[in-house]
Amino acid sequence: MTYHKEPIRFGMVGGGKTGGIGKVHRTSAEMFDRFKLCAGVFSSNPEISLESALEWGVSPDRNYLSYDEMALRESERPDGIRVVVITTPNHLHSGPIQSFISKGIHVICDKPLTNTLEEARKIQTVVQGSGRVFMMTYCYTGYPLVREAKARIARGDIGSIKMAKVEYPQGHLATPIENTDQKQFQWRTDPARSGEGGTIADIGTHAYHMLRFVTGLKVKSLSAELKSFVKNRKVDDNAIVNLRLENDAIGLIWASQAAIGHENSLNFKIYGDNGSLEWSHTDPSKLWLFQLDSPKQLITRGSAETTIASRRITNIPAGHPEGYHEAFANLYLEAARAIYAVDNKLDIPSEVDYPGIEEGVEGMEFVFASIASSRQNCAWVNL
Ligand SMILES: NC(=O)c1ccc[n+]([C@@H]2O[C@H](COP(=O)([O-])OP(=O)(O)OC[C@H]3O[C@@H](n4cnc5c(N)ncnc54)[C@H](O)[C@@H]3O)[C@@H](O)[C@H]2O)c1
Repeated sequence: MTYHKEPIRFGMVGGGKTGGIGKVHRTSAEMFDRFKLCAGVFSSNPEISLESALEWGVSPDRNYLSYDEMALRESERPDGIRVVVITTPNHLHSGPIQSFISKGIHVICDKPLTNTLEEARKIQTVVQGSGRVFMMTYCYTGYPLVREAKARIARGDIGSIKMAKVEYPQGHLATPIENTDQKQFQWRTDPARSGEGGTIADIGTHAYHMLRFVTGLKVKSLSAELKSFVKNRKVDDNAIVNLRLENDAIGLIWASQAAIGHENSLNFKIYGDNGSLEWSHTDPSKLWLFQLDSPKQLITRGSAETTIASRRITNIPAGHPEGYHEAFANLYLEAARAIYAVDNKLDIPSEVDYPGIEEGVEGMEFVFASIASSRQNCAWVNL
C-alpha cells in the first residue's frame, strides 16, 4: 500500500512528560515516520503541558488548556490534526472522544474504553455514526507472534479449541501504594475515576481482548471472583474469571496486580483437539506449537516458517529483539493505513487489523459482567 508522503498530524490529550503511558504512545506513533506530533493538552497541569510541548517541538500556540478548545481550534486550522490520541485516566476518555469525533477528527484511545458501561454505549453510538477511524490501544495484539498464533488457530493448526487460558499477573499493587503521593495509583484505585473495576478493568481487559483476538471465539457467559488482597482497597486487585465460549470450549482468565514477583507477565496457552499453542509477553519472539504425534516446534519471529499475518508486521530481521514499543508501533501503523484509506475515500484493506469501538465496548461488558458475577457469589452471568 502507498502512503501520503506527509506524516499524519496528531495531537495528544494527556501523556505529558510526567505521565505514564503517554510517552510510549508518542515514541511508537513516530517510530516509522507515519505520524507527527503537532498539538496537545498534555497534562492537567498547564505548566507541565507547556513544558512537554516545548520539549517535543510543539508550537506553544498549539498547546491548549482544554480538550474542547483543542478540538475546536484544530478543526478550524487548514493544517489541523487529523487524529487525536487519548491517554488520560479512564473517566477522562469519554469527553475528549465525543469532542474530537464531533469535529471530524479520528481517535486513538487507550483502554479501558471508559469508566462506566452506560458511557461506553454512548460513545459507541457516537463513534459508529461518525465514519471516523477509532482504535483502542490493546497493544499486545501488535506483537507479530500473537498474530501468528491467531492465523495458525484460524487455519486449524491445533484443531478445534477446547480451552483458552490467559494470565496477566503484575505485582506493583501488592502494597497500599495508593496511600503514597503517586497519582497514577491513586486514580487507579478510586472507583470514581478508574470505574468500579480495578485490576479487572486495568489489565483484565487486555487479557480478555487477547483471548478473543487469538481464538476468535465469542464468550457466552462468565463466573468471576474479584478480590482485594490489600485491605481497605476500594477496587479489586486480583481477578479469576471462568468463561464458557462458543463451540463448547471453556476459558480461564487470571489478572492480578498483587501477584508479588510479577512485572508484566501476560501469557496465553490455547488447547485444541489436535495441539496447543503457547506465548508469553516476557519472551515475545517465541511461539511454541505442540501437535499430536509431532515433535514440539519453536516458531521464532521473522523465521521462514512464519505466515504472512506475522511477517507483515515484522520490522527487523529474526534474532534482533523487537519489543513493546514495536508492538505498540505496529498498532499505530495499522491506524495509519486505516486513516489513509478513510481520508482518501478508499476501503480499509482487509489485512489491516486493529481493535475498534466494538472491542472497547466488549471490554467494558466483560468488566461489568465480572463485577456482577462476583457480587452474586460467582454466579454465571451471560454476556
Ligand atoms: N495500553 C496499555 O498497555 C496501557 C498502559 C498504561 C496505561 N494505559 C491507560 O492509559 C491511560 C492513562 O494511564 P497512565 O498510567 O498513563 O496514567 P497517568 O496518571 O500516569 O497519566 C495520565 C495523564 O493524563 C493527564 N491528564 C489528566 N487529566 C487531564 C486533562 N483533563 N487534560 C489533559 N491531560 C490530563 C495527566 O496530567 C497525566 O499526564 C489509562 O486509561 C490507562 O488505563 C494503557
